[in-house]
Amino acid sequence: MYASKIVSVGYYVPENVVTNKDLEKLMDTSDAWIIERTGIQERRHIKPGDGNTTSVMGVKAAKNALEKAGMDADEIDLIVFATLSPTLYFPGGGVEVQEMLTKRTIPALDIRNQCSGFVYGLSVADQFIKTGMYKNVLVIGSENHSGGLDMTTRGRGVSVIFGDGAGAIVMSRAEEGDSSSILSTHLHSEGKHKKELMLEGPSTQVWVPELMQINPETEYLPYHPHMNGQYVFKHAVTRFSEVINEGLEANGLSVSDIDLLIPHQANLRISQFIQKRFSLSENQVFNNIQKYGNTTAASIPIALAEAVEEDKLQRGDLLVLAAFGSGFTWGSAIIRW
Ligand code: ACO
Repeated sequence: MYASKIVSVGYYVPENVVTNKDLEKLMDTSDAWIIERTGIQERRHIKPGDGNTTSVMGVKAAKNALEKAGMDADEIDLIVFATLSPTLYFPGGGVEVQEMLTKRTIPALDIRNQCSGFVYGLSVADQFIKTGMYKNVLVIGSENHSGGLDMTTRGRGVSVIFGDGAGAIVMSRAEEGDSSSILSTHLHSEGKHKKELMLEGPSTQVWVPELMQINPETEYLPYHPHMNGQYVFKHAVTRFSEVINEGLEANGLSVSDIDLLIPHQANLRISQFIQKRFSLSENQVFNNIQKYGNTTAASIPIALAEAVEEDKLQRGDLLVLAAFGSGFTWGSAIIRW
């Protein structure tokens, strides 16, 4: 068995900044409400015509990661692409990344695990590297939420939270004597909660013309996301805690060993709750949801890239990634940096 490690982290966010004040002009909401409930001050939205799609942003983040690794795209053996907002219904975004990034016909795998998509993707990459099947894997999380949100008062419980962006990592086989490696990953799902956070259509259940009719159960148009916010919040804080503990225990570690925790950026209040529950300092939990909102599969790699830029991680540090989201799905990764 080999070990895998993260070689580099890249990201891309669209230039267009949308503040809470901008949203006040579109719906009945307020800067104060959004900051108090979520901590979010602004987010990025693709501007029609700026050339960005989910896959294009994913490629930009991947190129940033490859440049930092000093690697050529043709050295990559596998693309793992996580998103809930693919450019096309099918095929998935992975093949678009392959088309834009490399001449080699390498495999492209799409991950559909929403906010847990990046941790699931990292775990998949880790297994392929461990077995020796692939040496260098690109894991990308990218989202274009703005194109699918209901930007009216009806959609305000969801639309103020989400933002667009992409993050990517290059993972490679760890060399003999290399101290940095992925120690373990831990993944879960519980589908009975699927309707608490979902987008119904288009799907094989909700097709034209039902797409254009309000669902009486959710009071949403099926092509906009629906979320039972408080229900999701309660499950999130429990599952985040469980899966962090599970990862630490699996490695004979304890909370006092954590140097940096990067939780999926779902809500600043969720991150603060976890920080308090684990008695971590503010410096030990990295948050950037204030600037980007919830970018789902992209949120952890964007945060990781910024944490590296801000020198929050030193070689040998214990890094914990944790995610929870629609499905429900959740997971953690315990990493020696
Ligand atoms: N502006 C002003 N008022 C609003 C807004 C808004 N944007 N949104 C909702 N409200 C109102 C509601 O209508 C409600 O009004 P009422 O009391 O008159 O009925 C009131 O504010 C409270 O609404 P809640 O939904 O109960 O607000 P809550 O405090 O729960 O905050 C939030 C909502 C921010 C969504 C929170 O529940 C949350 O963060 N949930 C977890 C999200 C999460 O973790 N998602 C997982 C990842 S996402 C993924 O996987 C795709």
